[in-house]
Amino acid sequence: MLSLVGRLVLLVLLCASSAHSACPSLCECSEAAQTVKCVSKDLREVPLGIPGYARNLFILGNHISRIGPESFKGLENVTNLSLSNNRIMEVESHSFSGLRSLRSLDLSGNQLALIHPEALAVPGGSLRELNLSRALYNRSAAMDLATALRWGALTHLQRLDLSANHLVLLPPAMFAHLPALRRLLLANNSLVAVHNGTFRGAEQLQELDLTQNGFRTFREEGLAELERMGNTHLHLGQNPYTCVCGLEDFAAWLNASRARVVDAHHLACAFPPELRNVSLLGLGGRDLGCHGDMAGEGADLALQTSYVFLGVVLGFVGVVFLFVLYLNRKGIKKWMMEMRDACRDVLEGYHYRYEIDSDPRLGPVSTSGDL
Ligand SMILES: *[C@@H]1O[C@H](CO)[C@@H](O)[C@H](O)[C@H]1NC(C)=O
Ligand SMILES: *[C@@H]1O[C@H](CO)[C@@H](O)[C@H](O)[C@H]1NC(C)=O
Ligand SMILES: *[C@@H]1O[C@H](CO)[C@@H](O)[C@H](O)[C@H]1NC(C)=O
Ligand SMILES: *[C@@H]1O[C@H](CO)[C@@H](O)[C@H](O)[C@H]1NC(C)=O
Ligand SMILES: *[C@@H]1O[C@H](CO)[C@@H](O)[C@H](O)[C@H]1NC(C)=O
Ligand SMILES: *[C@@H]1O[C@H](CO)[C@@H](O)[C@H](O)[C@H]1NC(C)=O
Ligand SMILES: *[C@@H]1O[C@H](CO)[C@@H](O)[C@H](O)[C@H]1NC(C)=O
Ligand SMILES: *[C@@H]1O[C@H](CO)[C@@H](O)[C@H](O)[C@H]1NC(C)=O
Repeated sequence: MLSLVGRLVLLVLLCASSAHSACPSLCECSEAAQTVKCVSKDLREVPLGIPGYARNLFILGNHISRIGPESFKGLENVTNLSLSNNRIMEVESHSFSGLRSLRSLDLSGNQLALIHPEALAVPGGSLRELNLSRALYNRSAAMDLATALRWGALTHLQRLDLSANHLVLLPPAMFAHLPALRRLLLANNSLVAVHNGTFRGAEQLQELDLTQNGFRTFREEGLAELERMGNTHLHLGQNPYTCVCGLEDFAAWLNASRARVVDAHHLACAFPPELRNVSLLGLGGRDLGCHGDMAGEGADLALQTSYVFLGVVLGFVGVVFLFVLYLNRKGIKKWMMEMRDACRDVLEGYHYRYEIDSDPRLGPVSTSGDL
């Protein structure tokens, strides 16, 4: 009797534990919604026992520092995987190789310092969307990523978010192996130039976001690259455009390409102060102080130059004069003595004559004699 009760209790316990193992502790599972969430639970690694029905898997806001090939075993149905804000530093090769149905991968808000070359390989190249916003730790990580994008065979990737990563330079031809890429977000980085080949290979690109970067202008090479991507809609706002002569080509290109530049009407000068906030559309060489007024400016410049030259010459003459005076100081002193003596003589002569003149007895005679 007792043993039967014992067996029943054991059975109940087993059932309970197996029901429990259908969802990892600290996670919430919904079979109906095919969704598993493990949010802000201080997890140190991807939990074991995630149910196979999961299509949407959210593991957010934990402290997982590394993911590897063992992290997502047997999750062939996961379509959407979000791993954002987990402080992930390392992604090993083939971390996602078991996720045969994976279409959307969100790694945003991590600190990826080590991305192994085949980290992003997903079987069948099923991945459509990859979010790496605020995810790259430093420049080495960006180089690693370029390699992983090449080795990942991401032939169906359509959307790539690389915003807010402090990117200064894009490795050349970084997107060359993403033939299906349609939307590329590079907003809020520190990019200053587009080079020949920067976007080579992304032939299907429909939308490119370059807002909030460090572009002061786009030079010939960059304009040629943007021009080559004739079907891509561009976002170019919130850059520190510097409205001096070097912007002229870009301003002209912008005026001619305003249909493609989605925010063309919002592009404005950041410098110099007197042109701050002035729209780039319709700015000509004249406004930028290039050549619109070439003759007048040239003449002005020549005049200024000649004034400066005159000043220098006069200054030089003055210095020579002072130097000569200095060399002749003895002679000058002598000369001044002589002058003084001469003056004294003359004055004494006057004095003498004054005395004579003021003698009432001699006055009229002398005066008439002088006349
Ligand atoms: C994935 O989904 C299919 C169909 O919904 C199902 O038959 C299969 O068992 C699931 N895989 C796992 C590992 O549960
Ligand atoms: C995956 O997420 C996207 C939006 O993020 C959603 O439209 C799609 O339905 C999700 N996929 C599944 C299988 O739930
Ligand atoms: C990528 O993730 C960030 C933050 O997690 C989010 O704001 C952004 O909308 C995502 N990008 C895309 C294209 O969904
Ligand atoms: C990036 O960070 C990693 C890990 O801290 C370090 O080994 C590497 O030298 C850093 N690279 C650069 C360019 O700072
Ligand atoms: C830009 O990126 C930085 C981190 O790189 C982030 O802190 C900031 O919130 C972002 N700004 C916007 C407007 O997204
Ligand atoms: C860009 O580079 C390619 C080869 O990489 C070259 O054929 C082409 O002439 C270059 N274009 C410009 C504008 O320099
Ligand atoms: C620049 O213009 C925008 C609207 O076009 C306005 O909101 C902003 O205050 C202006 N900034 C300055 C410094 O004038
Ligand atoms: C801008 O383009 C229009 C034609 O699209 C042209 O008439 C106008 O002169 C251009 N303005 C400047 C400043 O280049």
